[in-house]
Amino acid sequence: MARTSGALSRQVESGLIWLLCVMPLLILVGQGFADALTANPVEYVLRELGLWALRFLCLTLALSPLARFSGWRRALLYRRRIGLWAFAYACLHLSTYIFVDQALDWPTIVKDIVKRPYITIGMAAFLLLVPLAITSINRIRRRMAPRSWLRLHRAIYPIAIMGVAHFYLLVKADHRDPLFYGIIVLMLLGIRLVPRHRAAIK
Ligand code: HEM
Repeated sequence: MARTSGALSRQVESGLIWLLCVMPLLILVGQGFADALTANPVEYVLRELGLWALRFLCLTLALSPLARFSGWRRALLYRRRIGLWAFAYACLHLSTYIFVDQALDWPTIVKDIVKRPYITIGMAAFLLLVPLAITSINRIRRRMAPRSWLRLHRAIYPIAIMGVAHFYLLVKADHRDPLFYGIIVLMLLGIRLVPRHRAAIK
């Protein structure tokens, strides 16, 4: 009986996490139907999706320290899933840029990637995320040695830093928002250097 209710509460928890992750997307779709995507809908959607990609990257980084300090060990089980949501939002962000913002104008896209440092860094962060997403598929993950998998997935640290740099460079005047995310990322990376903590997290 206790085991059944434990499994049920885990299913509810898992369903709630899924719902929370899909919610920003549903809100954007709802705003679209309500014609409430501001005067510049493309820029608004592009920026919202980018912001959520960065927030989910931060959340992924936060789960190990959360498990360590709260004792909620199951947080570790959700790292991979939330990381995949970060990738999903980054894919939608990139697709909005390519298909809607630039309307598949490849020469301009290539010029942007080469000439605009914030796009170059965003693209590099995205390309680094791709192998992490692919190796998060259970079948592929099982084929990898755990050490190699962990080593590869440490790329999440530079990716988060690049996400913040991308944000910082694209903002023209008020840098408070990117600095806020920069401080969060630095704290989440710094906490991994605390020796007592290092033993407990990977
Ligand atoms: C891990 C990958 C990425 C993350 C975390 C990310 C994150 C962000 C964030 C946080 C913003 C700013 C949102 C705001 O202003 O409130 C943004 C904007 C933007 N990103 Fe990304 N991004 C990523 C990849 C890319 C890629 C690959 C491209 C294109 C090749 C791209 C193009 C843009 C553009 C064009 C903007 C809006 C710039 C503007 O409105 O002036 N991003 N992104």
